Formats: sequence, structure tokens, C-alpha cells
Amino acid sequence: MVRAGFYLLAIMGFSVSGALGADAVERAVASCWACHGAGAAPKDPTMPIIQGQQAAYLEKQLDAFRSGKREDQIMSSMAESIPARENARAAAMIAALAWPKVAGAATAPAPDSAIACQSCHGADFTGGPGPEGVAPRLAGQFAQYLEARMGAFSRGEIASAATMTAMMKALDADERAKLAKYLSGL
Ligand code: HEC
Ligand code: HEC
Repeated sequence: MVRAGFYLLAIMGFSVSGALGADAVERAVASCWACHGAGAAPKDPTMPIIQGQQAAYLEKQLDAFRSGKREDQIMSSMAESIPARENARAAAMIAALAWPKVAGAATAPAPDSAIACQSCHGADFTGGPGPEGVAPRLAGQFAQYLEARMGAFSRGEIASAATMTAMMKALDADERAKLAKYLSGL
């Protein structure tokens, strides 16, 4: 009897902590939308769209924000709000959402340099597995954010993909701006 009671308590304790874990992830993810847009694109174009982004890419960025490999004060503390072992599940929840369309995003012509991106970012620029790991979706992302990130790669501030750094160094700011405009309009 005593023993059975102990097992029952152990099982109950296990399932209760499991349920609390799930709530903590859901609560943490619910707090993302104040900045990243609730059911829509973010209002501020410096906040990237993350809904529907590649799961493996999201997970890697959350790990990087948490460890400080990718520096951003707000995002470091936001990443830390997700229970440590739940990054993959949080990333999967966010990746499963539909990518929101930015209202009134202008289409722009494709610069020649866009062809070189497709081997990693995909023919339709929705990202996926490539030679340097899973590349993020670029299609329909804010131009301002894409341009800022390309600039950071070109200055050697991001060390996560060597080919990206080399390619961004080889393009001047004007060309990067054209790419950002084109990609955001897709
Ligand atoms: C207070 C505003 C704010 C909140 C809340 C917030 N973020 Fe962010 N997030 C940002 C900003 C600003 C950036 C861009 C940082 C940069 O430029 O490097 C960002 C970037 C990101 C990126 C990188 C996207 C990419 O394309 O590389 C991911 C992933 C991300 N956030 C996930 C989350 C998650 C998950 C949550 C909720 C747990 C969250 N964010 C909550 C402001 C916020
Ligand atoms: C060899 C593969 C490869 C090629 C070619 C490549 N990229 Fe990337 N790119 C990546 C990977 C991988 C990442 C994610 C790096 C990380 O995990 O931090 C990335 C990240 C980015 C980001 C950051 C997006 C975000 O959400 O923060 C931008 C913008 C970008 N690439 C634009 C381009 C453009 C434009 C081209 C073509 C001129 C290009 N890339 C060519 C592999 C590539």
C-alpha cells in the first residue's frame, strides 16, 4: 500500500510538473507577440517577422541570444524567459504559424546578385537546409531588418556562416539595399 501510494504520488508529481512546463513555454511564447506582431506582421520594421520562420534557424538564434553569441539586450532576456530545455519546442510552435504578409510591401526588381543566394536560401527564398546549416526565410521579411543584418555580416559582426560573411563583404551597401528591397517584396 505504502509503496503503491508512493508510485501514485510520483506519477502525479511527474505529470503536474510536465503540465507546468508546457504552460511556461506557452506563456513565454505568448509574450513574444507584443513586439513580433500578434497574428500579423510586427508594426515596427526593426522587429523581424518570426512566425513561420525555419524552426532550426529559430532554435539556433534563441540559443545564440541566450548564450550571448548574438547580442541584443532585449532578446537575451526574452530568450532566457523560455525554459532552457524547451528552445526546440518554442521554435517549433513559432515555425508552425503562418508567415504574415506585410501590408503594402512594394515589389522591386531582382538584382543579379540574388541568384547567388538561392543555393542556400531556396529558389523561392523561404529558407531551408543548405551547405552552412539551415538558412532563414528572407521572402517577405522587412527590408530595413534584412539590410541591417546584411550590413552586420559585411562588417564581420556575425560569425555563424562564413560564406554569408564573404558574400556580404563582396557587395557594396547599395547592392545590399537593392537585395533587401527585392526580398521584402516577395
Ligand atoms: C520587446 C520587444 C521584443 C520581444 C518581446 C521579443 N523580441 Fe525577439 N526580437 C526583438 C528585436 C528588436 C529583434 C532584432 C534583434 C537584432 O536586430 O539582432 C528580435 C529578434 C528575434 C529573433 C531573430 C530573428 C531572425 O530572423 O534572425 C528571434 C528568433 C526572436 N526575436 C524570437 C523571439 C521570441 C521567441 C520571443 C518571445 C519569447 C521574442 N523574440 C520576444 C524584439 C523583441
Ligand atoms: C552558403 C549558404 C548561403 C548563401 C549562398 C547565402 N546565405 Fe544568407 N544565410 C545563410 C545562413 C546559414 C544564414 C543563417 C546564419 C545563422 O544561423 O546565424 C544566413 C542568414 C542570412 C540573413 C539574416 C536573416 C535574418 O533573419 O536575420 C540574411 C539577410 C541573408 N542571409 C541574406 C543573404 C543574401 C541576400 C544572399 C545572397 C546575396 C545570401 N544570404 C546568401 C546561408 C547563406
